[in-house]
Amino acid sequence: MYNRRIFMLGATATAAALGLAACGGEGAGSGGPDTDAAPSEQTVGVAMPTQTYERWVADGNNIKKGLEDKGFKVDMQYAEDDIPTQQQQIDQMVNSGVSVLLIASIDGASLSSQLDAAAAANIPVIAYDRLLTDSENVDFYVTFDNYKVGVNQANALMFGLGLLDEKFEAADDAPKGPLNVELFAGSLDDNNAHLFWKGAIDTLQPYFDDGTLVVLSKQTDIEQAATQRWEQETAQKRMENLLTTHYNGGEELAGVLAPADPLSRGIINALQNAGLGPTIKEGLPIVTGQDAEIASIKLIADGVQSSTIFKDTRNLAEQAIVAAESILKGDNPEANDTETYDNGVKVVPSYLLEVQMVLESNYQQIMVDSGYYTEKQVETGQL
Ligand code: BGC
Repeated sequence: MYNRRIFMLGATATAAALGLAACGGEGAGSGGPDTDAAPSEQTVGVAMPTQTYERWVADGNNIKKGLEDKGFKVDMQYAEDDIPTQQQQIDQMVNSGVSVLLIASIDGASLSSQLDAAAAANIPVIAYDRLLTDSENVDFYVTFDNYKVGVNQANALMFGLGLLDEKFEAADDAPKGPLNVELFAGSLDDNNAHLFWKGAIDTLQPYFDDGTLVVLSKQTDIEQAATQRWEQETAQKRMENLLTTHYNGGEELAGVLAPADPLSRGIINALQNAGLGPTIKEGLPIVTGQDAEIASIKLIADGVQSSTIFKDTRNLAEQAIVAAESILKGDNPEANDTETYDNGVKVVPSYLLEVQMVLESNYQQIMVDSGYYTEKQVETGQL
């Protein structure tokens, strides 16, 4: 079954390649930017990874609306975390002659042949949020400061543990430790996961070195901590296993570094099911997060999840559109980082956006007073 599927997908990819070659007669560049064309004559191809994470739905909606408001046509596809589906969707976009591609990949290294086809058809490619790796055919990258996400997650963890004060300096009354923590990472095929991890570990390392923090399971490599495809259930299961294997003799777990809100909620489920909590005040370990999903903002308001990182996807969508427009006009998009994002073949010029740490003390101001969520959404935990 598995082999057959691969074979069929292979056949589709070949057909797609032939399609491209056939278009080649009219010039391989039936797609790509036409600097004289009005937006209404141009289609932007938008490839999104999945709808299971709230943020990607918001990203997609923001991108689509932003582009349509400017008069562009949009071909947006979600791949539900299936790599062959995403490859096929992008093949189709290239064949249909889109003017530019915005790609949020599932596996950043899996799209090389699609990117080659885009280049052959003169279609520029912007990597959206996640870096496209192992290919020279990536023109630009818009993202958040991913290393700082990790730094913020580590600082939020240490704030929750009482090691840092509200200025994120060493707290006067900090516990001496050792405090037991466990570490979770995202999907290894997502370049961001490595940057989140690095930012967090660099920040926690001095506390591991002086013995204030201890990873009781000794699972301190990203490979051990990784969560394939960022799946909530996988994180929940790993947390359950960690508890039964390493915390079955009265050992106390103080905190968990969790890289994204759905994983945080899986981890919290495991902790609560094991009798910890239900709230931080009642003994639930400190759990971090990312994405400021509505269900997690409610948990923060309720004193269950300790923190999250807010990345305003409205701004990311806007930045992607600015970059796309400038590429379509034949200009170079404005970059604010031309060093960090080496994709294995080249350093991709990037535009990085800032992130914000959200805690019980500031969620109201950052998430509600700003108009991002309503009081009612926070109260119900639903959009
Ligand atoms: C994104 C995060 C997201 C994660 C899982 C990462 O690439 O930057 O915002 O939580 O993927 O979807």
